[in-house]
Amino acid sequence: MEAPIKAPTPGAGGCGTVWWQSGTVYQIYPRSFQDSDGDGVGDLRGITARLDYLAWLGVDAVWISPFYRSPMADFGYDVADYCAVDPLFGTLADFDALISEAHRRKLKVILDFVPNHSSIAHPWFTESRASRMSAKRDWYIWRDPGPDGGPPNNWLSNFGGPAWTRDEATGQYYYHAFLPEQPDLNWRNPEVRAAMHDALRFWLARGVDGFRVDVIWHLIKDEGFRDNPQNPDFQPHQAGINRFHQVYSCDRPEVLDIIAGMRAVLRAYGERVLIGEIYLPIERLVTYYGPGLTGADLPFNFQLIQTPWRAEAVAALVAEYEAALPEGGWPNWVLGNHDQPRIAARVGEAQARIAAMLLLTLRGTPTLYYGDEIGLGHVPVPPERAQDPWGRNEPGHGRDPERTPMQWEDAPNAGFTAGTPWLPLTGDANRRNVDELRDDSRSILTLYRRLLSLRRDHSALSVGAWRGLALPSDLAAEVFAYERIADGETLRILLNFSNQGWSVPLDEGGPWQILLSTHSGRAGDRVERQLRLEPDEGVILGPPGR
Ligand code: NOJ
Ligand code: MG
Repeated sequence: MEAPIKAPTPGAGGCGTVWWQSGTVYQIYPRSFQDSDGDGVGDLRGITARLDYLAWLGVDAVWISPFYRSPMADFGYDVADYCAVDPLFGTLADFDALISEAHRRKLKVILDFVPNHSSIAHPWFTESRASRMSAKRDWYIWRDPGPDGGPPNNWLSNFGGPAWTRDEATGQYYYHAFLPEQPDLNWRNPEVRAAMHDALRFWLARGVDGFRVDVIWHLIKDEGFRDNPQNPDFQPHQAGINRFHQVYSCDRPEVLDIIAGMRAVLRAYGERVLIGEIYLPIERLVTYYGPGLTGADLPFNFQLIQTPWRAEAVAALVAEYEAALPEGGWPNWVLGNHDQPRIAARVGEAQARIAAMLLLTLRGTPTLYYGDEIGLGHVPVPPERAQDPWGRNEPGHGRDPERTPMQWEDAPNAGFTAGTPWLPLTGDANRRNVDELRDDSRSILTLYRRLLSLRRDHSALSVGAWRGLALPSDLAAEVFAYERIADGETLRILLNFSNQGWSVPLDEGGPWQILLSTHSGRAGDRVERQLRLEPDEGVILGPPGR
């Protein structure tokens, strides 16, 4: 018999930990979660209407991608007013209602802060570009043309093409790490820092529980604007940005001061979390905890997205990350987001269940991406419906397939909108939706909910120590085994990354009981010295008799 799923009892994390350590984060891409007004685009009222679902699922916090005033050149990652809600998404009053309804359900609310660049339509940029003498000229990054009259250096845009655009009015180039519609702010300028800190305070005062900071490792650029070195390993299928190693355009040492400054602003409001978006190798990533942990509370760890989906590779990654963490640095894990192919698309439906168990049993704060809990996979988007500007600049790199609407029920557009959805749904939306899956004990949604419930019930899972287990080499190639330990309880997790069955020896610590399996019908079984793992099966073992 499966253990009953307990009603969530959210709140403070035990064992001297805080909520963002013991809890789980759920990312909402607001355009795609729930539309309330029939315009085909999700909005804040839509999110509020679905908070009961999130409480039922058992997550602790929602991170909402940007809903600020924006011309939407990059769907909100181009902000024209850091302290206003775009009418497409609703009003400030809608936001206040959302946060108070979330808090009533003990759900924290994390906003997406986009400090590296504003929109070209931000009044700051309008003023900055007006003349070389403008009081806000230095708020952005303006340079004279290079010796040949071209761009000042070889830096490229992450979305294809040069990162510099010449502005006819003043004859100088401005820098944009992303679209020309997203000019980079100059964080070396103290006025910029102060203005951005004020924007943080605006939302903190409204009760937000923290921020996910967009491309935080980009904030400071090399003072001398040196050329980036060529990448000899560049492959033509890669996005153009990879032609060069991004040595001088980002990840500069001075960025840690900037992050500490933001962190200090949050500190004044109590237990608020600062999550930094950082795509860097582990040894660089962990420096973003900052000296004396003055940096990001959670430098986003995207290594599971970037590591080949093989047991040995993932086991090595987890061990490497655990070993690299600074004293007191809290780990975190991510399987997907609005910029990355869906996990189910990458590893397949069977392994998506293993991925869920992995994400929710590793040590550290997990971030779930909306829709992964119903197993959304790759949704083909016909070229005439393509939306993402990156995909238009560099075909093949579009992010539309991972941004398709959430699927709620067997209704037109799966209950997402009464209008025409801005992106298509999956072909099986009449079956792959929350309503259909919530009562199905074998569904991936039920698995996610059971995992979240188990994580709440066992401090070993939410805050316990992690220990990798050695397996005989043929097994270690396909099965990842580890333990989580807290308060005198040890749980053992065994994940079969292959589509072949295995007998796994359990020579110490037993007898055990299966607390949860990705395959239904096994929970409650006792196991002694040997565990039969079915193809694509993951199992959590605990002490018998609970
Ligand atoms: C990272 C965001 O996650 C992505 O969606 C966006 O396009 C870039 N930063 C630019 O803001
Ligand atoms: Mg709408």
